[in-house]
Amino acid sequence: MVETSENVQKIRRDFPIFSRLENGKRLVYLDSAATSQRPVQVINAVRRFYEQMNSNVHRGLYEMSEEATQAYEDARSNIASFIGAKPEELVFTRNATEALNLVAYSWGRANVREGDVIVTTEMEHHSNFLPWKLLATEKNAKLEVVKITDEGLLDEDSLDEKLKLGPKIVAFTHASNVLGTINDAKGIAKRVKDAGAICVLDGAQSVPHMPVSVKEIGCDFMAFSGHKMLGPMGIGGLYGRYELLEAMPPFLTGGEMIKEVHIGEVNWNDVPYKFEAGTPNVEGAIGLSEAVNYLRSLGMDWVRSHEKELTAYALSLMVKESSVQVYGPLDVEKRGGVISFNVDGVHAHDVAQILDTEGIAIRSGHHCAMPVMDRYGIPAAARASFYIYNDKEDVEALIKGIEKVKRVFSVE
Ligand SMILES: Cc1ncc(COP(=O)(O)O)c(C=O)c1O
Repeated sequence: MVETSENVQKIRRDFPIFSRLENGKRLVYLDSAATSQRPVQVINAVRRFYEQMNSNVHRGLYEMSEEATQAYEDARSNIASFIGAKPEELVFTRNATEALNLVAYSWGRANVREGDVIVTTEMEHHSNFLPWKLLATEKNAKLEVVKITDEGLLDEDSLDEKLKLGPKIVAFTHASNVLGTINDAKGIAKRVKDAGAICVLDGAQSVPHMPVSVKEIGCDFMAFSGHKMLGPMGIGGLYGRYELLEAMPPFLTGGEMIKEVHIGEVNWNDVPYKFEAGTPNVEGAIGLSEAVNYLRSLGMDWVRSHEKELTAYALSLMVKESSVQVYGPLDVEKRGGVISFNVDGVHAHDVAQILDTEGIAIRSGHHCAMPVMDRYGIPAAARASFYIYNDKEDVEALIKGIEKVKRVFSVE
């Protein structure tokens, strides 16, 4: 796909949300890192499920239920191939958070012992920090945290130092939801494997925005969320290496995840069903599969290059403002389309509120990454994030909005 704003206009027409106004102004949606918008193709796929085949899966022996089961399993295959995995290696979860907790509860509780080392980083969303902290506390294991540099990159020396401790698990994010930093997942995964640990990747901010293949990266587990990649809310996934998933005990128990249950004996279902207890989010999986089709039609290389272009443009304008502090690397080769910033002397919530009066939706706060806030000594940051439906006009609206914030607060 060619890089023109005409393309973005065409894409935008697929998203009904852009016909609404925000405070009477054109909606400038710069909060896709929190959740993306959905194209009509995804909305229609969910609607079709309810209108034409609504029934439970894997249970009914009637035509409609078989159709629903087929659609659910086709969705699994399609989404798995999008991330370079086999269908049986993709467990549907509610979101990335549940996927990461699944690994910590199941693999972690079965394999981590007293005194073992678990490594995570200072850059993590709480979803990839708290499950490990809880596991370490429960098992009397040690939680070691890789530092980040002033530029917002993972500190190589700190990583080396932690790997020398012989960890059991190393969990890190592919792309930071605050700093935008894209970590060298493949390079780090190799070092983690060489150190004898299992490698858990948080793909919540990478899978929606760039080509990602778990086989190419070589990680053992990867978590992602459907709602950040044009899919419905309440559906996400965990990729797990087959042998690991097979050896792991279940996370939740109940219907669907068993082969046989007797008072004295239980046989768990095969992977991945062993980890999908209860009625699944069938329409979510079907909607996410349609989202994957939509992203494929654009091409993930196009998605990445489009976001790089917008990010470079936004950064070039923002760094000119002496009263605006931008966090994370300035080189767009090292970062994605997430820009966190502060305006001197103005709280991030005030920045967000003033931008909203201009129809611009951004996020403000600690972004569920308080260790990152601590690292930079700030209570909060404003954050603009880009996706396929944003263009340079949106970036210019953001810059104008920041000028308004400065005027209102008399910032030099
Ligand atoms: C890097 C990262 N990891 C994990 C999550 C958690 O995603 P979810 O809330 O969909 O589980 C987020 C959400 O913002 C994120 O940005």
